[in-house]
Amino acid sequence: MEKETLSETQKELIRNTWEMVTQDQIHHGTVLFTRLFELEPELIFLFQYNSAHFSSVQECLLSSEFTEHILKVMTVIDAAVRSLDTLPSLEEYLTGLGRKHRTSGVQLESFKTVGESLLYALESGLGDVFTSDTREAWSRLYAVVVSAMSQGWGAEPPGQ
Ligand code: HEM
Repeated sequence: MEKETLSETQKELIRNTWEMVTQDQIHHGTVLFTRLFELEPELIFLFQYNSAHFSSVQECLLSSEFTEHILKVMTVIDAAVRSLDTLPSLEEYLTGLGRKHRTSGVQLESFKTVGESLLYALESGLGDVFTSDTREAWSRLYAVVVSAMSQGWGAEPPGQ
């Protein structure tokens, strides 16, 4: 978890930009998952509530259980942003979260696509504010999160 270090400037960029999107987590989270399902449509089959598959992306995005998952993802990102100075404190939680996702059938490789989709959602929400420095800062934070989650697969994170 130590590998990816964030500079103070990068932490500030992350805090400031998160502040701008965090008021509407459902919207930005929906943009993230819409993009994710465009890039990897088969991921939708991993979301089964009451053992039923969704018959379309639209049905999935509109379901209350999936909306809860969007909020769960945003809550983890929020926790990471709030813990920028103490990221190793999240490691144990994130490893357990990775383990749960492996059990749900998620392939480690898919977390790369989640990262691309997160950057896409941030760019959509922030427009010109999403500079290349901001992108680099968020990529690093996401790499830290995925690195800890990867331990739940007992594996190294996929190459970025
Ligand atoms: C490949 C993308 C992902 C898939 C297919 C996926 C799938 C799932 C599924 C099926 C569950 C169990 C049902 C539920 O709670 O809704 C779950 C739970 C959860 N997911 Fe994800 N997820 C993905 C990405 C993420 C990411 C990126 C995060 C956060 C960084 C995250 C955070 C959570 C949390 C906090 C839970 C609840 C775990 C618990 O019950 O303790 N998920 N996910």
